[in-house]
Amino acid sequence: MTTEIMTAHDVHLFYGKKEALKGIDLGIREHEITALIGPSGCGKSTFLRTLNRMNDLIPSVKITGKIELDGQDIYAPNMDTVQLRKRVGMVFQQPNPFPFSIYDNVTYGLKLAGVKDRQTLDAAVESSLRAAAIWDDVKDKLGQSALALSGGQQQRVCIARVIAVQPELILLDEPTSALDPISATKVENTLLDLRENYTIVIVTHSMHQASRISDRTAFFYQGDLIEYDRTKKIFMNPTHQETEDYISGRFG
Ligand SMILES: Nc1ncnc2c1ncn2[C@@H]1O[C@H](COP(=O)(O)OP(=O)(O)OP(=O)(O)O)[C@@H](O)[C@H]1O
Ligand SMILES: [Mg+2]
Repeated sequence: MTTEIMTAHDVHLFYGKKEALKGIDLGIREHEITALIGPSGCGKSTFLRTLNRMNDLIPSVKITGKIELDGQDIYAPNMDTVQLRKRVGMVFQQPNPFPFSIYDNVTYGLKLAGVKDRQTLDAAVESSLRAAAIWDDVKDKLGQSALALSGGQQQRVCIARVIAVQPELILLDEPTSALDPISATKVENTLLDLRENYTIVIVTHSMHQASRISDRTAFFYQGDLIEYDRTKKIFMNPTHQETEDYISGRFG
């Protein structure tokens, strides 16, 4: 029985008057890949952003309920959000490397945290790029701009940048939807490798991707969490009609 690293309790989120999340209860288990699926506008990205308080940056947002990371309330007034976002890293749909060298991208968070020792930085660059399965592609050009890489390579550098600060949880919002199928498969394989040491939550519109890489799947619909279970169960024998309709492509 794996332990829950992050737990949402009755989370409601309002954008002004619009209720985008209607009481979500969901536990993320350690060393698993959890997939969030559901039709466009159902609240997947909104929920993902509640897990590292990225919604705080939107002025009209109001959140109720509780989200705990290792038993600690992440919305408690004394929670340091910079620290939180190191512990809960995020990778976006569009690869967004900084316009710096590959080396400087990966060391960015460590340097911000005050790490200066060259050997420590070098070691972190190699281990993060290896973990993100991009080391062999870039080891001879660490000084070159990350922007000169392909989209799939950029996305893996972005994953390495997140890994470098050793997060407890990695959130990914449709990380492969801007990539060609071969690059997407490489990123999927990277995520499968990372599961051994990290916990991953991924939003995806690809049923194939969710069933291939995730351990558990959460189906969202119109701001509600309709069904959350082992991925096999969700795809082979869902309990709810809406889940069945969605995964079989009848809507969304
Ligand atoms: N910044 C915002 N301000 C106001 N409303 C928002 C904002 N972001 C999202 N919403 C609304 O909240 C609802 C959920 O949006 P969200 O982006 O979480 O959906 P999603 O499931 O990620 O969709 P998609 O699959 O299209 O990315 C939608 O109705 C959306 O219009
Ligand atoms: Mg989204």
